[in-house]
Amino acid sequence: MKYISSLRSFCHCLKMFVWLFLFLSTPISSTNPDSELTLEICSVCSCLSVENVLYVNCEKVAVYRPNQLKPPQSNFYHLNFQNNLLIILYPNTFLNFTHAVSLQLGNNKLQNIEGGAFQGLSALKQLHLNNNELKVLRADTFLGIENLEYLQADYNLIKYIERGAFNKLHKLKVLILNDNLISALPDNIFRFASLTHLDIRGNRIQKMPYIGVLEHIGRVVELQLEDNPWNCTCDLLPLKAWLENMPYNIYIGEAICETPSDLYGRLLKETNKQELCSMGTGSDFDVRILPPSMETTFTTPGGHTGQTSQNRLATKPPKTTNPSKNSGIVSGKSVSNHNLSQIVSFQTRVPPLTPCPSPCVCKTHPSDLGLSVNCQERNLESMAELVPKPINAKKLHVNGNYIKQVEQADFAEFEGLDLLHLGSNQLTMIQGNVFCNLTNLRRLYLNGNQIERLSPEIFNGLHNLQYLYLEYNVIREILGGTFESMPNLQLLYLNNNLLRSLPAYIFSGVPLARLNIRNNHFMYLPVSGVLDQLKSLTQIDLEGNPWDCTCDLVALKLWLEKLSEGIVMKEVKCETPVQFANIELRSLKNEVLCPKLVNKPSTQYTSPIPAITFTTPLGPMKSPPGGPVPLSILILSILVVLILTVFVAFLPSCFCSETK
Ligand SMILES: *[C@@H]1O[C@H](CO)[C@@H](O)[C@H](O)[C@H]1NC(C)=O
Ligand SMILES: *[C@@H]1O[C@H](CO)[C@@H](O)[C@H](O)[C@H]1NC(C)=O
Ligand SMILES: *[C@@H]1O[C@H](CO)[C@@H](O)[C@H](O)[C@H]1NC(C)=O
Ligand SMILES: *[C@@H]1O[C@H](CO)[C@@H](O)[C@H](O)[C@H]1NC(C)=O
Repeated sequence: MKYISSLRSFCHCLKMFVWLFLFLSTPISSTNPDSELTLEICSVCSCLSVENVLYVNCEKVAVYRPNQLKPPQSNFYHLNFQNNLLIILYPNTFLNFTHAVSLQLGNNKLQNIEGGAFQGLSALKQLHLNNNELKVLRADTFLGIENLEYLQADYNLIKYIERGAFNKLHKLKVLILNDNLISALPDNIFRFASLTHLDIRGNRIQKMPYIGVLEHIGRVVELQLEDNPWNCTCDLLPLKAWLENMPYNIYIGEAICETPSDLYGRLLKETNKQELCSMGTGSDFDVRILPPSMETTFTTPGGHTGQTSQNRLATKPPKTTNPSKNSGIVSGKSVSNHNLSQIVSFQTRVPPLTPCPSPCVCKTHPSDLGLSVNCQERNLESMAELVPKPINAKKLHVNGNYIKQVEQADFAEFEGLDLLHLGSNQLTMIQGNVFCNLTNLRRLYLNGNQIERLSPEIFNGLHNLQYLYLEYNVIREILGGTFESMPNLQLLYLNNNLLRSLPAYIFSGVPLARLNIRNNHFMYLPVSGVLDQLKSLTQIDLEGNPWDCTCDLVALKLWLEKLSEGIVMKEVKCETPVQFANIELRSLKNEVLCPKLVNKPSTQYTSPIPAITFTTPLGPMKSPPGGPVPLSILILSILVVLILTVFVAFLPSCFCSETK
């Protein structure tokens, strides 16, 4: 009897302990992705049927994960999960979404897509992953979506694409990868896809071989190559030859040479073999190697781009099966007039009642029902010509016109804009508060104008701006605090302007990941107060400035050396003094750069540089080894200590009751 009662009280203690443990650990287990809650999706998201197609809009429903929502059963539908702060996609997140034909995951914070995350999406044709923080496309990323035709992953931080990432995507026609950090395409990456549109603008690609890459994209009707640092050596002959043999009705963006320096800025197509091969480097590739003829490229059934090696030397240029001239890739960075291609077959027409400014073309995008207004190159002289004003426009392209001035009233009906393209106009100055009601704007293009000066008032109100393009202006001066009103700014292009200096703390509080100030007039740039404010950097371009390699530049050199390895940067070449002309700053020894250092072996130049820790959103991978203990481990260990304390505190009472 005594034994039983003591046992009971012991059990009681144990129960309490277990309860305490569960209570304490709930905050951690609540992040478990497999929580049970299931709600009808249309009770949480807005569902709208347009022309018998269902649009399920789950924008900004961040409290629910997709697998907690029960999808519509019967109809095919478009699924929009933009702006939900998603960071990781776990396997089987969309398992039951078997009838989704498009999935919008743009504008989240996705850093990691675990293998099998898209399993179940067997009807999916379009996948949008744009504006996230993805670093890699893995071999198992796209498992289970074998019907995919359109993949958009622009504006990420993608550096690597694993071999075979697209191997199962036999139907993949449109691939949008612009504005990432890709430096090379793995061998045979497009072998099993059937690409008609490929956009790789704004990456770090230097060359594109025939074998393993070009041989597999013979069916392409649009290929965008701009803004890559093409290395115009013999290795690029195959690309040149391939481009020359593409039919005229195919849109090919220009490849402009970046290296070697004597070919800098030249169009690849205007170089010749002697120039390309003058270095004597690279393989002496035979220009006779041409794209395979179409008849022999697509022989295997099921859309495989099966190809035998003897076809490689075929000399007939490919005949394109889809000679649609106006096809265009729909992406954030549109350069030419882009009509939606026929590929995007589930494009909805603009409802007839939607007003569209008479000089423009308007399109709705199926995924977010947003209107895209295209007024490029319409000889506009003022925004006031845009009548009637469209309703709920998301994108407005007025680039390539003759606009000299913009006023606040010009944007009166455009509060919902996500993208505003004012590039290649004749703007010389921009008044304060002009954009102050564009609080949703994320991308602003002002490149190719004649802007001379930037001041804080210009950018008032742009709280959500992430991408700001100001390249190719005549900017001489940037006033202090200019970027302060943009706490989300990630990308800033100031290249090809006339800047000589930057004010102190110009980047403080601005989470820039990419900064381009190449081709300006910088001779010197301070670290303290300027560069050391760049805490989230992934890419910086300082090339093409007349750097004065004297003592003043030692701090810059040390800063560059301290940048973590993942940060992409360009060469920093000295212009003066003459003995260092054209020499890479980082190759100069500190004592050579600044002989004073030898006489005064103090820490004068090494100490003022604050320890640079890059707390990028890229997570612990980039944090320096031996850095602070991760928060999760800290919490866990505190928890363990707490539990032990409680246990020790309860234990005596248990034994006490036993002795009674
Ligand atoms: C998918 O649907 C099945 C049956 O309708 C259900 O048992 C299962 O829990 C669902 N899975 C998810 C992840 O929602
Ligand atoms: C360009 O290619 C040549 C030949 O392959 C190579 O030697 C050189 O280092 C490359 N340049 C750059 C900037 O990578
Ligand atoms: C887009 O295509 C239509 C026909 O489909 C054509 O009338 C129009 O001119 C094109 N617009 C542009 C900007 O190319
Ligand atoms: C800007 O927004 C405010 C408040 O919504 C409104 O009163 C004002 O008229 C707007 N200004 C312009 C120029 O549209």
